[in-house]
Amino acid sequence: MLARFGVSIEPELLEKFDRLIAERGYKNRSEAIRDLIRERLVQQEWEKGIEETVGTVTIVYDHHVRELTTMLTELQHQHHNSILATLHIHLDTHHCLEVLAIRGKPDAIRQVAHRLISLRGVKHGKLVMTSTGTHL
Ligand code: NI
Repeated sequence: MLARFGVSIEPELLEKFDRLIAERGYKNRSEAIRDLIRERLVQQEWEKGIEETVGTVTIVYDHHVRELTTMLTELQHQHHNSILATLHIHLDTHHCLEVLAIRGKPDAIRQVAHRLISLRGVKHGKLVMTSTGTHL
């Protein structure tokens, strides 16, 4: 079941919103607003840090950097309970792209992400804070 509600908004702001959501491919305002609300809820979940959630860490690194692959493997074994899966792509003769899916409390996920990203030889890294979807 869906509930309906009215929103008062400045015409200029609504215009900007409509342009934005059209660029993003939304067919109507309702789905765009639902997504905005869910985005904020996920953000709050990460801020509160109570519920178990999921995140993905993407890293790009040079596998020729001494000890790096050993350190990465070591870290992943240390956190085998929370790391759900890893995707590894050999980008070229030097670079690897790795995506790790991690489940746990926000702080625990952040800690693993920071340790991975801060390793010497990791050229770029990013944590995407998402959700198990249960509370959305
Ligand atoms: Ni590789």
